[in-house]
Amino acid sequence: MVMRVAVLTSGGDAPGMNAAIRAIVRGGVEKGWEMFGVRQGYAGLIAGNCRPMGARDAGEIMQRGGTVLGSARCPEFQTEEGRVKAVRALSQDRIDALVVIGGNGSQSGAEKLSLLGFPVVGVASTIDNDLFGSDITIGVDTALNIALEAIDRLKVTASSHQRALLVEVMGRNCGYLALMSGIAGGAEAIVIPEVETNPEEVAREIRSAYERGKPHAIVVVAEGARYNAEGLAGFFKEHSERLGFAVRTTVIGHVQRGGTPTYADRMLATRLGIAAIEELAAGRHGVLVGIRKSDIAATPLAEVVAGKKPLDTALLRLAGILAK
Ligand code: ADP
Ligand code: F6P
Repeated sequence: MVMRVAVLTSGGDAPGMNAAIRAIVRGGVEKGWEMFGVRQGYAGLIAGNCRPMGARDAGEIMQRGGTVLGSARCPEFQTEEGRVKAVRALSQDRIDALVVIGGNGSQSGAEKLSLLGFPVVGVASTIDNDLFGSDITIGVDTALNIALEAIDRLKVTASSHQRALLVEVMGRNCGYLALMSGIAGGAEAIVIPEVETNPEEVAREIRSAYERGKPHAIVVVAEGARYNAEGLAGFFKEHSERLGFAVRTTVIGHVQRGGTPTYADRMLATRLGIAAIEELAAGRHGVLVGIRKSDIAATPLAEVVAGKKPLDTALLRLAGILAK
């Protein structure tokens, strides 16, 4: 049977999404299926913004960051009414199955669509790496490398001025990006939402770094931490005389999402894109394709939505040893 399969990207864009689109479109074409791209995520799905995509339409996109299909945050899709509209639009276009490339929120939406009886396969993609069902998600490697480049550069100027610097990285409520970029970037302290951190402790870490003869103190802070960069900077400013140092703050922000996808992200996205097609070809859906212990794994969307991916906070100890 000739399947008609649509693909969309949803939520925060992640470097590598285009490589996943390419793999899905070309993987489907190879099966003899008709492939379609939906613009602007779930908003485009509701609006019926679904267009045919052939192998050539997926050309020269793998090396580009962002998503050629566009993405969106779509509150309407969070309502049953919105999702029913989306299924109606898919039926009008005679689409048999949908592939959703996105993170936690997008896969929650995919699960709800699947509960309405529409065949959906999710592809694990978010820079936050907070998605249950995949050890690593599309975009994480590139985002980490961008954060590292920023940290390396900031360390240079911090050392020249013997300064303390707060560097805030993205991650929503998850400390993965901060923890990993902090370790690989050689931070003196790391602040993540998963571990309660007192600003006095951070101040002690900074002072102790100077006492050990370091010319700088870099603190990597997750945006979702109770004390994010702004909160910590406010505390340090208020107590600057007593603490004896002043800090400068850099929020890397969306710069982290905009990069050229690394080899690791292109490869991961390519493998997961093809895996999504293979799931559909085998008649399976209602699952997320991700990577577990280096192998492709399909996890039921219900488990993905209910599950919580743990962060290995023991790595903070490692960071402490390495900062000595
Ligand atoms: P990400 O997928 O990167 O985590 P969001 O959390 O913004 O990004 O989710 C992307 C979109 O997925 C939302 O704008 C919304 O349309 C849809 N979505 C998120 N959560 C749900 C939910 N619980 N039920 C249905 N749809 C959802
Ligand atoms: O989920 C990806 C992410 O970049 C988070 O790290 C961040 O909190 C959020 O999206 C930012 O969202 P927006 O692009 O809508 O400002």
